[in-house]
Amino acid sequence: MKILAIETSCDETAVAILEIIPATKGRVGGSKRDPQFRVLSNIISSQIKLHTNFGGVVPNLARREHEKNLVPITIQAFKESKLHKRAPNNTELARQQEKVATILEREQDLLRHFKKSITPLAIPDIDAIAVTHGPGLAPALWVGVNFARALSCVWNKPLMPINHMAGHFYSALIEYDSLKLKQTHFKKIKFPALALLVSGAHTELVLVSGHGKFRILGQTLDDAAGEAFDKVGRMLGFGYPGGPAISAAAETSHFSAKGRSASGGQFPIKFPRPIINSKDYDFSFSGLKTSVLYFIRDIKKPQSVHKLQSAIAREFQNAVVDVLVAKTICAAQEYNVKTVTLGGGVAANALLRQRLAEELNQKLPRVQFITPEISMTGDNALMIALAAYFCGKKKAQTQVRADANLQF
Ligand code: KG4
Ligand code: ZN
Repeated sequence: MKILAIETSCDETAVAILEIIPATKGRVGGSKRDPQFRVLSNIISSQIKLHTNFGGVVPNLARREHEKNLVPITIQAFKESKLHKRAPNNTELARQQEKVATILEREQDLLRHFKKSITPLAIPDIDAIAVTHGPGLAPALWVGVNFARALSCVWNKPLMPINHMAGHFYSALIEYDSLKLKQTHFKKIKFPALALLVSGAHTELVLVSGHGKFRILGQTLDDAAGEAFDKVGRMLGFGYPGGPAISAAAETSHFSAKGRSASGGQFPIKFPRPIINSKDYDFSFSGLKTSVLYFIRDIKKPQSVHKLQSAIAREFQNAVVDVLVAKTICAAQEYNVKTVTLGGGVAANALLRQRLAEELNQKLPRVQFITPEISMTGDNALMIALAAYFCGKKKAQTQVRADANLQF
């Protein structure tokens, strides 16, 4: 079984092809319990450089880039997967052109690329097409959704709309190293599991009682964790995205975790840990962000901002991580979960990974902790293919729509 997956929810244009390996004795993927996979292709084209100039993602720019890049990336994915074949005379596909023109009515640039490079192809040996249909930026999502619908129409392949956050959940289950890996098993997960999903737009604690069975226990009431990292990054003069820059700056701070400098000086900054003791699993990072803003505003000498940059980054990161870890541990205890997983762009944060591992080990040593490979934390299409395999549902091409606010 081969799944083609497409992801365009934000500022990465991504296409992946995942194969489930037939077992030697005729069963698919070893067994349903222990499937094996081969990543045939996993391409991510990032637009970060483009958006950096604007200090954040500009939805219509993202949409334009997706339109430009989707077809070339898909062709590249087929070539890498050795599934790229031109049809000598494809009358069937030619007949579908009118339908494609209707589906891609609003994506004229994409339609041009489609006619030039997709139409001449023979129908590839894939079994399903998975596409992120939300949540995300509506203009960006629609490009991927309509492209997937057009492919499904011309190749007559089933279409599976996938929730982007389900993708982030499944990203933790694969060990993937594009240089070394040829074939792999999934990490085994025990349910019920608790997922901490932290990205640029979402911060959610999700109870996962089985494959595809998600229930949100709590989420951010205002800014997402990644969004707070990005905004504070901007205040400190770092470019977009702020997360990696803040975490790198925090590393260079000469103040210890306990707040002492090497020379014995007191840690000069203390930011709040918003709603850390509330009796729910919601988060709020907007007040923390404002505290950083006021702190920087009240620094008298501008040159001191630069000097304090790494200390501010460190204390801000500590505050975010304290809240995320405390609430995750509480929820894991209350729901008696067997597994805790991490997912989303902020899951790349080394302090978060380390602190959560330590606290789980101390307080809930029987709970398994599964983190995604760093290369799988950001947006990618491989995670969408994984989600499709485990919990994707086929839908008629005409019924698939983008939903910017899609919830579990
Ligand atoms: O999941 P993702 O790639 O895109 C969305 O679906 O939003 O997450 C991107 C977010 C950005 O806000 C970025 O600043 C944050 O992940 N991020 C980090 C780190 N690396 C990326 N935040 C904290 N520490 C990091 N090392
Ligand atoms: Zn994401």
